[in-house]
Amino acid sequence: MTVSRRQFLGAAGAALAAGAVAGLPFLPLGPQTSTGTLLRSDLPLPPRFTLPLTVPPEARLLTDGPTDVCDLRVRSAPASILPGVTTRITGYDGLFPGPTIRTRRGRPLRLRLHNDDDRPTVLHLHGGRTPPDSDGYPTDLVRPGTVRSYDFPLRQRAAGLWYHDHTMDFTGPQVYRGLAGHVLHTDDEEGDLGLPAGEQELPLLLCDRAFDADGQLKYPARSSDPAVPGVQEAFMGGVIGDVLLVNGVPSPVHEAAAVRYRLRLLNACNARRLQLELDPPPPGGAGLVRIGTDGGLLGHPLPTDRITLASGERADVIVDLGRYPVGTDVVLRNTFDRGPAGEVLLLRVVRAGRDESRVPDTLSRPEPLDPARAEAVRTFAFRLERTTGGSAARDSMAHSGHGMGDPGTGALVWTVNGLPFGAGDVATPRLGATEIWRFSTDLHHPVHLHLAHFQVLGADGRVDPDQGWKDTLDLLPGATAQVVVRFDGYRGRYVLHCHNLEHEDMAMMADFTVV
Ligand code: C2O
Ligand code: CU
Repeated sequence: MTVSRRQFLGAAGAALAAGAVAGLPFLPLGPQTSTGTLLRSDLPLPPRFTLPLTVPPEARLLTDGPTDVCDLRVRSAPASILPGVTTRITGYDGLFPGPTIRTRRGRPLRLRLHNDDDRPTVLHLHGGRTPPDSDGYPTDLVRPGTVRSYDFPLRQRAAGLWYHDHTMDFTGPQVYRGLAGHVLHTDDEEGDLGLPAGEQELPLLLCDRAFDADGQLKYPARSSDPAVPGVQEAFMGGVIGDVLLVNGVPSPVHEAAAVRYRLRLLNACNARRLQLELDPPPPGGAGLVRIGTDGGLLGHPLPTDRITLASGERADVIVDLGRYPVGTDVVLRNTFDRGPAGEVLLLRVVRAGRDESRVPDTLSRPEPLDPARAEAVRTFAFRLERTTGGSAARDSMAHSGHGMGDPGTGALVWTVNGLPFGAGDVATPRLGATEIWRFSTDLHHPVHLHLAHFQVLGADGRVDPDQGWKDTLDLLPGATAQVVVRFDGYRGRYVLHCHNLEHEDMAMMADFTVV
C-alpha cells in the first residue's frame, strides 16, 4: 500500500504538465495510476473472497490434417457473476471469459467464428503473428448471422496470447460485454521445462466492470442506440469499473496446495492499470517469480515483489505456496487500488502437496535484437488533440466521425502523431527489417503493435533482457520509450494503437504496412 505513493505523485505531475489537455472533465484531479474515470456500481458488491475461482473450459479442437480447427460462436447468454443476480453477457460460446484455446507451435489453427449476436464483430489474436487477412483489421466485420474463418499459422514461440473483439469504434463496449479469452500457445522448448501444469497452472483473466441496479453490465455509452459509437465525455479517458473480476468472478478464493503455481496473468481491463503484489509476502520476499511476458519465456526467472500490468499486457508468474505454512491466506492484491478493486484473488493454502514441477534457471534463449542494425528510426506521439485552429486532425476527423464535443469549441480526439485513425500509413517497414520505434505520451497509453513483437531499449540504449519480447508497452504520462522491433512474418496492412480501449475506439490507432 505504501509503494505507489511516489508513482502516484509522479504520474499526477506529468499529467498536469501536459498543458494541452489540462482542464478536461475526465482528467485526474489528484494522483492517479490509470487514465480514466471510475464508474460505480449501483448495487451492493459481494463480500470479497467468498466466491470460488473458476477456470474457463478449454476450447474443443478438431483435427484436419496438420491444422487444428476450432468453432466459436459469439452470442449473448445469462451469466452468474454477482450472487443471486443474472447478468446478460456476450461471449465466445456465450461464456465470459471465452474458452481457453491451447495451441502448439507447428500446428496452425483455423478458428471459425460464427456471429450469432445482433452486432457486427471482429476477432483479433493479440500477440499472434498472423497474415493480414486473418489479423482482425477493425473494418473486417463479421456481420450478424455470418461465419468467418481466421487462419493462424502460429509460427511463433510459446506465449500467453489472448483473443478479443476488435470492431472498429466498438472494441471497448464489445470487450466489456465479455468478448475476450486466453490462448495458451506452447512449444517443445517450454514443454521440456517441467513448469507447473495441470491444476498447478491457472489462466487468470483480470478485468474490471461496473453493474447497474439490476446487476447488468453498465457501460457509459454516449447513446442508448448501440450503433452509435463513443462514450459519455466524462469517460473519454477510459472506463474503470469498481469491481475486479478474475475469470469473471469478483475477488474469488481458490483453495490451493502448498506447491508451485503458474499464474498466466492477463490484464483485459479496458483502461485500468494493475500493480500486483502478494500479501503477506513469503519469508524473504520476492514471491512473484516472473518467467514470461507478452512474447513468451524470459531467459531466466526474475523474482520480484510486484508486477505492473497495463491493458493488454500479460505476465507468466510462478508463485510457490510451499513457502507458506499450510493454513495461510495469501492475497494477490492490486496495490493501485484501496477499494474492492484492490482485492484480486485469495489463495488459501489448505493442504500440503507433492510438487513435481521445476523452474529451471535457464528458461529459454531469446534472441536479442541489435539496435545497431536498425534501418529506420520512427517516432510516434500518443496524445489528445483539440481540433480547433486548423490542426491536421480536423479535416481527417470530419470524415472519420471520431471524436467528441461540439464543432464550435472543437472536438477532442485521441491521436497518433496528431492524426486520428484513417489518416493513412504511418510507417511502411520492409519485410524482415529491424527498426527503432520511439513512443511518447501525454497521459497513460499502453501502446500495442499487431504482427511485430519488440524488445525495449533501456536508458543505455541496449535491450533490457528483463522485459523480454513484448507486444504491448505500458507508457506513463509524459513518457518516452524506445523499442527495437523486427517486421518478420507477412507483408500487408496492420495497426498499432493504444490498448486503452476507449482511446482506441476514439481514433488512437494508425495503419502501418509491411512492404
Ligand atoms: Cu489486444 Cu489491437 O489489440
Ligand atoms: Cu491511450
